[in-house]
Amino acid sequence: MAKMFRSILSGVGHYVPEKIVTNEDLSKIMETSDEWIQLRTGIKERRHFTPGVDTCANMGVKAARVALERAGLSPDDIEFIVFATLSPDYFFPGSGVLVQKELMGDKTVGALDVRDQCSGFVYALSVADQFVKTGMYKHVLVIGSEIHSTGLDMTTRGRGVSVIFGDGAGAAIVSRCEDEGRGILSTHLHSEGQYAEELAVLDPGSSREVRLSKEMIDEATGIYPYMNGNYVFKHAVTRFPEVINEALASNGLSASDLDLLVPHQANLRITTYIRESMNLPEERVVSNIHKYGNTTAASIPIALSEAWEAGRIKPGDLVCLAAFGSGFTWASALIKW
Ligand code: COA
Repeated sequence: MAKMFRSILSGVGHYVPEKIVTNEDLSKIMETSDEWIQLRTGIKERRHFTPGVDTCANMGVKAARVALERAGLSPDDIEFIVFATLSPDYFFPGSGVLVQKELMGDKTVGALDVRDQCSGFVYALSVADQFVKTGMYKHVLVIGSEIHSTGLDMTTRGRGVSVIFGDGAGAAIVSRCEDEGRGILSTHLHSEGQYAEELAVLDPGSSREVRLSKEMIDEATGIYPYMNGNYVFKHAVTRFPEVINEALASNGLSASDLDLLVPHQANLRITTYIRESMNLPEERVVSNIHKYGNTTAASIPIALSEAWEAGRIKPGDLVCLAAFGSGFTWASALIKW
């Protein structure tokens, strides 16, 4: 068998739009309250993009530039782009090609879009890992970026969902690593499509007789996210510990070996449940949902980048990324930093 390499995250970065939307702001446009939102989700505020300034792709580029700088690399070093989002700039083509245009200019590289919602970043990372491990590429750019704010029902009807989601972007550079002691140790990916409609935006769908009708817009059902909140919650609290333990067990490790867990920021109650059920101290679990809400594919790379900036990740640390979301999909990645 040909020699296999190891891949590391040589740089991480994030970008969030300037505009802060507090729970108080939302309570002025729908029947909700700061108390309800904080108690049920832990969210205090989230960011909403500025039209004309932020796009899904350019927020990813901004995050990527930070990650590149921290990795000591330039856009010229990137050989492949993997872009995870559920809120792409266009129905097609994917946002990855827009990153290629903005970041790489004349240099043409492959650009792949990943659609695995809250698990999108871990899925994207696993794709990058395979390309780097096999020796195909030395540096792959992985982005998670979302603009939720234009796709939410901002009336009382949509309050169960719209208070949760926010906009933002995060990025990582996955690079070939010569040091045997470091790298992405494993990734584990799962899906269970029988629950596809429990957390979904159904319209405009290609399998409808008419993709987008006036009725769909007037009724405003399928064009906004539907979430069976309790149902999602119950599955999430089972799948998160399961997929983290799967990662640890497949490497002969246990929860006590973990230096940092970076879970997808879905809901503070979910994160607290995972932390307590796995017996992890608070300082070993990243939580920033109070500032950004749930930014789906962007949430893990934003949290990772903030943790790195705060000095919470040092070389040699064992870091686990874990996600659960629409699909249902769930995934983990275990990294020796
Ligand atoms: N403000 C005030 N009241 C609200 C509200 C809001 N923003 N949203 C819902 N409510 C009301 C409901 O109408 C309901 O009222 P009722 O009892 O009079 O019918 C009540 O609050 C309870 O609603 P419910 O949906 O049962 O609340 P919950 O405790 O399950 O919390 C979620 C709702 C969405 C916060 C919770 O289910 C959750 O976090 N689920 C997982 C979400 C998730 O992680 N999604 C992303 C996947 S990665």
